[in-house]
Amino acid sequence: MCGIIAITTRRKTNVSKMITSGLKRLEYRGYDSVGIATISEGKIQTMKDAGTIDQVTSRLSFDTLEGSTGIGHTRWATHGPPTRINAHPHADCSDSLMVVHNGIIDNYLSLRNDLKKQGHKFKSETDTEVLAHLIEEEFKSEKGPNAVIQAFKKALDKIEGTYAITLIHTADPTKIFLARKDSPLVIGVQDDTKFAASDIPAFLEYTKNAIVLKNGEVATLTPEAVYIEKNGFRVQPKPFIVSWTAESAQKSGYPHFMLKEIHEQPIALQNTLNVNVKALEEATKRILEAEKIIILAAGTSYHAGLSGYYQFQRLLKQKPIYPIIASEYETYNHLVDENTCILAVSQSGETLDVMKGLTAARKAGAKIISIANVIDSSIPRLSQVALYTKAGPEIGVAATKTHTAQVALLARLSLQLEYSLNVWNQQEFSSIITDFTSEVPSITRTVINQNEFKAKQLASIISDQNHSYFLARGKNLPIAMEGALKLKEISYIHAEAFPAGESKHGPIAIVEPKFPVFIISPKDETRKKMFSNSEEMKARGGYIISITHKDQEIVKRSDQSFLIPESSSPLITPISYVIPLQMISYYAAVHRGFDPDKPKNLAKTVTVE
Ligand code: AGP
Repeated sequence: MCGIIAITTRRKTNVSKMITSGLKRLEYRGYDSVGIATISEGKIQTMKDAGTIDQVTSRLSFDTLEGSTGIGHTRWATHGPPTRINAHPHADCSDSLMVVHNGIIDNYLSLRNDLKKQGHKFKSETDTEVLAHLIEEEFKSEKGPNAVIQAFKKALDKIEGTYAITLIHTADPTKIFLARKDSPLVIGVQDDTKFAASDIPAFLEYTKNAIVLKNGEVATLTPEAVYIEKNGFRVQPKPFIVSWTAESAQKSGYPHFMLKEIHEQPIALQNTLNVNVKALEEATKRILEAEKIIILAAGTSYHAGLSGYYQFQRLLKQKPIYPIIASEYETYNHLVDENTCILAVSQSGETLDVMKGLTAARKAGAKIISIANVIDSSIPRLSQVALYTKAGPEIGVAATKTHTAQVALLARLSLQLEYSLNVWNQQEFSSIITDFTSEVPSITRTVINQNEFKAKQLASIISDQNHSYFLARGKNLPIAMEGALKLKEISYIHAEAFPAGESKHGPIAIVEPKFPVFIISPKDETRKKMFSNSEEMKARGGYIISITHKDQEIVKRSDQSFLIPESSSPLITPISYVIPLQMISYYAAVHRGFDPDKPKNLAKTVTVE
């Protein structure tokens, strides 16, 4: 939530243009207001307003801001509505400094009251503005070349909560000061230019050399150098080369990132299934050693985790496995001990609900395996074993390619478990892996090609509806849940998923003619019961849309059917079946006139509780 970018350069150029293009790449993190501040000839220049970057840049010329050091922010409002005044950056009383912030300052009200008593004048309703005034207050008693960083650190000592902060100050006009606690910040390194951003794509067009700022670290960037410290001691930075390309963070001719990312799934899956076998073996060992397993995730990643749950419980029969929504972790903390293995699933690797759960689980002695898409993000760093999906950057707020990549990696992990449990000998296992690895991307490609036109047509049929149901049974339930989440989050059609057998216990009451009912019915043990559940809905006038393996019994009970090629492994079903649902959601959003990349009220990386 909220995107930050800061740049300082030795080049004779105005950084405002670079900051604006970086903000465009971070817009998925928040898009209700935007602002930039630079330092030019010892003075702060700033522009900000409510709206998306395109809306704001049509009113304000960010490019006219001068100076080679600056910060920018795209906001997802937490404290105070999205207005010009509440937009970041925020200044102190004398406009000698500017801050941008991602996170929440829990004790901002008491700090604000104290600062007001000391004479500070506040303009906004945000928690962030207290930071600007706190630094101003601390700066009064600092002298010498390190005055700004000293004041910054003293201010940080007084705040409670989560933050990624960047600061510029007229007293040190070529430097950027940063700090992080539980909200991401990555540093980009070029010879004469340094960047700090919430995510790598913000500076990917300029550099692939990156350093992750870790929790509790404070950094100073000059055009030539990066200085990081923690608890007063210098920290040696650990730079790494980013494997993502600049093109992967661009739309490349697609109207939206979401559609591009749906189409990227075959390659994302192929890359993901090119696994780090050592890490996979280590994860398998930890799972088999543990007395109980907790799968921890949020949103779409939770649905992937739930698919994993159905795969694991089939294999680990007696071992308790609990899939837990991360924000509910506290309710289950009593289950966690040193014999527990937590499997955390997160695209961003930064979701605060997951991090909070993992931090508590570590305290209880649990071992952690994580699946993330962003290398070296916070969640992998909290883990003993880090597995990565290799889906490339995902910019659309709705998770698509990272979801199928998570499901594929969990399926691959369950195949590894089968091998460790001697379900297969070496030869059989090799051939299963070869088939699985080639079949997953090829079926995905076929499903996209064969169903996109139909998805577009169906989207126009259901677009005037306000409600919809997604029904499945057993291990297919996560597919229905993910389909419902996708449809509601971007098209705003209310969508509910539930086990098909529950219909008669309440939900069927609101079914009426034309009410869309999605039936997830692969050729498996659930299919026969799905027949009668579809009939019940149809009898009330429901518009039946089935996703099926060309099962004529289901097709003849449906108004529309999406046909999925059969595969050699049932593990492929939660990947192939979710794709038509992603495409229907995308086209429904477009048909209803909404931007699928920027759903209202949402941001991609949820770094607040
Ligand atoms: C799904 O489309 C959403 N973007 C959301 O539910 C997301 O999956 C959730 O916030 C978890 O994010 P993570 O995978 O980055 O942890």
